[in-house]
Amino acid sequence: MSPTSSPATAPASPALLHPLPSYLQADQLGPWGNYLQQVDRVIPHLGNLARWAETLKRPKRILIVDVPIHMDDGTVAHFEGYRVQHNVSRGPGKGGVRFHQDVTLTEVMALSAWMSIKNAAVNVPYGGAKGGIRVDPKKLSRGELERMTRRYTSEIGIIIGPNKDIPAPDVNTNEQIMAWMMDTYSMNTGSTATGVVTGKPVDLGGSLGRREATGRGVFTVGAEAAKHIGLDISTARVAVQGFGNVGGVAGKLFAEAGARIVAVQDHGGTIYREAGLDVPSLLKHVLDTGSVGGFTQAETLADDKFWDVDCEILIPAALEQQITKHNAGRIKARMVIEGANGPTTPEADDILQERNVLVLPDVIANAGGVTVSYFEWVQDFSSFFWDEAEINARLVRIMKEAFAGVWQVSQDHKVSLRTATFIVACKRILHTRELRGLYP
Ligand SMILES: NC(=O)c1ccc[n+]([C@@H]2O[C@H](COP(=O)([O-])OP(=O)(O)OC[C@H]3O[C@@H](n4cnc5c(N)ncnc54)[C@H](O)[C@@H]3O)[C@@H](O)[C@H]2O)c1
Repeated sequence: MSPTSSPATAPASPALLHPLPSYLQADQLGPWGNYLQQVDRVIPHLGNLARWAETLKRPKRILIVDVPIHMDDGTVAHFEGYRVQHNVSRGPGKGGVRFHQDVTLTEVMALSAWMSIKNAAVNVPYGGAKGGIRVDPKKLSRGELERMTRRYTSEIGIIIGPNKDIPAPDVNTNEQIMAWMMDTYSMNTGSTATGVVTGKPVDLGGSLGRREATGRGVFTVGAEAAKHIGLDISTARVAVQGFGNVGGVAGKLFAEAGARIVAVQDHGGTIYREAGLDVPSLLKHVLDTGSVGGFTQAETLADDKFWDVDCEILIPAALEQQITKHNAGRIKARMVIEGANGPTTPEADDILQERNVLVLPDVIANAGGVTVSYFEWVQDFSSFFWDEAEINARLVRIMKEAFAGVWQVSQDHKVSLRTATFIVACKRILHTRELRGLYP
């Protein structure tokens, strides 16, 4: 073998690379376009591993499925479903399933890629994957929801499995959906396979602490970062967008640490209370009514005013592309903690950096969920279950260590925490790619 063709030094072959695969349109990339820009920012920091970087820009496997079900009124409805496995170099695919009326292929692709980065950033032995159905589940009856979930699981059953790809909850999916997915997969394969999904009910092989894990991780990373910038959490004002699994738990933990949750926005409205919202009452209100809208112990704000709220900490915990070049200049917070995946566009990232607002990126800040999903999967395999104190202690330790490593890289390379997290994660992914080599 000549020196120029040795695996360690051979460059990528630019003549054979196309900027985009034929199934994508350059002007319709959505969140996938943001992800590609994030990858481009990290390539100069990858050294020799940069020759493998194209791997990061192409999902390994994309499955689009038709999900037909009988509706309660006797008609047949068809839903569009996806499962994307972005990268499986480090282990099985791992990532949630989203039920939302705006789900698109490019969104699921981006979410799957961010899972690859996140899993490598906290060093759990997974690749990245994501799934979704383009549906507003609030418009389905419980029976329709179950039939749709089961048919979707059967359709993607050819590529998921405890050693292949392990789904979990995401927006509008929960423990019950995971229970139906686990049961459907188990029925199709002939034996109970608890390890095929995580985020299950505890009585079905779920893990204690999983429901709170993402919010707990958001809080842990936020508290660590606050120390670096001299921000006292116990007196901080916090604004939260999205008060579901992630935002609700993060808000609760910040409030318990003494912070004032001054504003909360969800799909049903925006509420504000300068003295701080009563978080337990608000959580109960959301449980009872489905939204923060109509909460009487607060003022109602016009939705767009959310971005002008005086606060030290802003936690976007809803959907992607919420902080854009149009509102980034208005944000008053000193720190943005991304509970949601992809809430900040690259242009907004630059504006926040110029304005000295510290952004704790999704790929580290919301990694607590997948970390405890990893614990759940390990517990399912060994059929030996840990207590909650042990789970939380292990979670906090992993999050703190991962964040400390990323912080150091950001200082050493003088880059944002997002680029630093991508450096750590992409090096891990591409190093594995190089060690495994190309098959055949
Ligand atoms: N659940 C997890 O373990 C987990 C892990 C990592 C990342 N995330 C990410 O966190 C985000 C929230 O996920 P979740 O599990 O909390 O979902 P969820 O369904 O429990 O809550 C979603 C929240 O977003 C709000 N929302 C929806 N549309 C909105 C809009 N247009 N404006 C304002 N608010 C809106 C909803 O009202 C709800 O409060 C998503 O980006 C998800 O990918 C979730």
